[in-house]
Amino acid sequence: MKYSINVKTFLITGGAGFIGSAVVSELIQHTPHRVINADKLTYAGNLGSLSSVEADKR
Ligand SMILES: NC(=O)c1ccc[n+]([C@@H]2O[C@H](COP(=O)([O-])OP(=O)(O)OC[C@H]3O[C@@H](n4cnc5c(N)ncnc54)[C@H](O)[C@@H]3O)[C@@H](O)[C@H]2O)c1
Repeated sequence: MKYSINVKTFLITGGAGFIGSAVVSELIQHTPHRVINADKLTYAGNLGSLSSVEADKR
């Protein structure tokens, strides 16, 4: 049986933070969905937490 899934685009706010980066990584690594990350990059934002998925086109 062939399964299909509707690919969606998720807008994640705070995606460079503790919870947001886990959500972004989970979506990229374990789903076919696309991600837009809007983060103010305050003291709590850390782009390094997204290094495992930053090269992904989605
Ligand atoms: N190592 C750990 O266990 C650890 C580390 C950090 C946080 N925590 C816990 O995680 C929880 C908080 O996590 P979180 O992810 O909600 O917060 P966070 O502070 O980790 O991340 C918030 C993110 O939102 C961004 N942001 C702030 N204002 C914004 C705005 N106006 N527009 C766009 N982006 C904006 C920040 O730049 C940051 O990247 C707390 O319970 C905290 O104690 C645990």
